Amino acid sequence: MAAHVAKRLHQALEQAAVLGLATGRTMEPVYAALRQRLTALPPRQLALLLGHWRSFNLDEYVGLAKDDPQSFAGFMQRQLAGPLQLPGGCLQIPDGCAPDPEAEARRYSAAVMAAGGIDLQLLGLGSNGHVGFNEPPCSAAELCRCLALSPATREQNAASFGGDPAAVPERAITLGTAEILAARRVLLVVTGAAKAQILRRALQEPPCPEVPASWLQHHPQLEVVVDQDAAAALEFS
Ligand code: GLP
Repeated sequence: MAAHVAKRLHQALEQAAVLGLATGRTMEPVYAALRQRLTALPPRQLALLLGHWRSFNLDEYVGLAKDDPQSFAGFMQRQLAGPLQLPGGCLQIPDGCAPDPEAEARRYSAAVMAAGGIDLQLLGLGSNGHVGFNEPPCSAAELCRCLALSPATREQNAASFGGDPAAVPERAITLGTAEILAARRVLLVVTGAAKAQILRRALQEPPCPEVPASWLQHHPQLEVVVDQDAAAALEFS
């Protein structure tokens, strides 16, 4: 599964696509497979590919600096930017320490637009149905913004903060459902039995604000990559 997603990302990079990137445990094997794939390339080919790299991450915690290991910027540095020696600036991420997070969200949205939008958006799925940090309830027309994280999300992400949900930042900046749905292609990656029911609701129940990922049903170029555990509740006719 990770190898398949890595192949998709590699193909997109070969086409100099603008990537939308995600964080979370689901992406760790994906990025490991991508690193493995890319570092196996002949050096000149790799240099050419990395020279075209343009990506925008979905989200960042408010209050965490780029060099904070618990920030999503830190995650991306460990997973991709560091190992691949990506030049600074080609891997974009909202600034969690911007003095005005709302203004930072507007700046970030404008930067995505200025790049021509996202060609391939990689997405994980939150246990409460969020994508990026678009917490329920959420319409399909939300733009990049600063918002409060739900107790469910702070619980889900507590493992990265010593297991304490109270240590998870209270707010985040996230690309909105509008920017995500505007991506030319979307790749939703879901693993594990804990996501089986929310994945079924996202894909096989009518779209609704209570499950933000369900708006993806409206996307004309959605690919869903799942493992057997996550797919367990899906019904195939
Ligand atoms: C996080 C991120 C999402 C991610 C999701 C799933 O909170 N904001 O972008 O896709 O939750 O995370 P995980 O893969 O760790 O289950």
